[in-house]
Amino acid sequence: MSYTVLKTIHLGCAFITYVLFFIRGFWLITNSRPLSLPGMVVIPHVVDSILLLSAIGLVVLTNQYPGEQTWLNAKLIALVVYILLGTSAFRLCHKRTAKLVTWLMAQLVFLYIVFVALTRTIYPI
Ligand code: HEM
Repeated sequence: MSYTVLKTIHLGCAFITYVLFFIRGFWLITNSRPLSLPGMVVIPHVVDSILLLSAIGLVVLTNQYPGEQTWLNAKLIALVVYILLGTSAFRLCHKRTAKLVTWLMAQLVFLYIVFVALTRTIYPI
């Protein structure tokens, strides 16, 4: 698969995963029923899996490996933090305020991941 195709898939999945995270978070905070629809449980997992597979493909294709590239290390660590915050918001937190705060923090971390990807630097300031 070509670099351009792989990067387009990676960017597309990054965009879709954010939109889904935002919508699901909105439903979570407003206690809306669509959150429990089967599609809303399965689709984010499928998109996240394709995002990760395309990330692995890009790592191999561009020969830029975590461990060698500081920005990729930062991206991976931030991804783990993003997943933990997302899990807290959707599964672990019971109070609405805690759900809201962890959901908002996860979005900040997601923005940081995009910043690191675009600038190849790890310090936003
Ligand atoms: C939420 C997770 C992620 C988001 C939002 C994201 C976002 C992005 C974006 C916006 C780009 C394009 C940068 C550009 O145009 O130059 C990119 C490229 C890339 N990403 Fe990700 N990414 C994520 C996860 C990962 C992970 C986990 C890895 C692997 C450790 C990874 C590896 C790469 C690589 C190797 C490139 C291509 C760099 C190049 O073109 O030289 N990404 N990512």
